[in-house]
Amino acid sequence: MRFVPASCLREGMQVAKTLYGKNSEKLLVTGVVLNKKYILGIRRLCYPGVYIDDDLSKDIEIINTISDELRLETMNGIKKIFVEVKDNHDPKAATDKMTQQVDSIVDELLANKNMMVNMIDLKCFDNYTYLHSVNVAVLAIVTGIAMGLDRVTLSRLGLSAILHDIGKVFINKKIVNKPSVLTTEEFEEMKKHSLLGYNYAKEKYKLPSASYTGIIDHHEKYDGSGYPHGKIGQDISLFGRIITVADIYDALSSERPYRKAMSPSESMEYIMGNSASMFDPKISGTFIRKVAPYPIGTTVKLSNGYSAIVLENFEAYCMRPRIRVIKINDEDIEPFELNLMSDFSTLNIVIENIIDDYESGLF
Ligand SMILES: [Fe+2]
Repeated sequence: MRFVPASCLREGMQVAKTLYGKNSEKLLVTGVVLNKKYILGIRRLCYPGVYIDDDLSKDIEIINTISDELRLETMNGIKKIFVEVKDNHDPKAATDKMTQQVDSIVDELLANKNMMVNMIDLKCFDNYTYLHSVNVAVLAIVTGIAMGLDRVTLSRLGLSAILHDIGKVFINKKIVNKPSVLTTEEFEEMKKHSLLGYNYAKEKYKLPSASYTGIIDHHEKYDGSGYPHGKIGQDISLFGRIITVADIYDALSSERPYRKAMSPSESMEYIMGNSASMFDPKISGTFIRKVAPYPIGTTVKLSNGYSAIVLENFEAYCMRPRIRVIKINDEDIEPFELNLMSDFSTLNIVIENIIDDYESGLF
């Protein structure tokens, strides 16, 4: 299978990975052939694209970071918590369930601990907040595993990450859901969510004490420019330092009403470029090794006119994947493979970008 951005979808393409709607319903199942109506629907709901199967990619396997089932179940769990927070809900039952789900995520990720994150996340506008929470937990735990944190700490980190934005339920919905950039006053209001979330969690939830620290510190920046306290460096809790990298990466990679999603490689360059200012460089350095800037199945343009599908990524050499060249200067060719990490003949070639424009004629 390979990933085809929404703008490049065409009638007749065959779906390779089920696409889920905001209530976890199956919108398009594996094997369905796209027609005009489906394509318009995918674009209207602002999905970044879909995975499809074709002759060029049918042998390419992409392994989910966590299973779809667990991802949807956890998304529904956090949605319930967000929706019910202001009602008279049972905080113990809610967090017990969430702890179980986070434990399952830790188990699944530990079982594949040598794997890199290679999946483009297919989320739509309507469930952004909840899937973002799940993604931040997954990315934080992946980073924690690579840092060698123990099982108990990983669960505490996951719980902190999944609840990191719980304070947003106390912010005016018009601000949280505003489809354009916030004014200075609105942003000041929005900034209150980390402290409000921390106070709420401390009062209502019986979490391990470390889990509260990620909620309050997830917008602190390593250079002291963050909020709410402007903490600097190692004064920021470990969970706060990990969650901030995961949070920013996933937010940048998501389509928002006021801006287009950045590609994984662009988001990764943002993380790299801010490693000495916003982030703890040790943590962002670990993150960069575990999340692929050119995920398997994406179609990339190279500096010498080649177009290619990414086949495999290597942890320490994230800009140099193994690829299948499918076109040269936009002309069809007999596909062939190159390993940008080890093949000498490729030394003067670089990947320029992930292709996401229809005019490329590549899909
Ligand atoms: Fe936040």
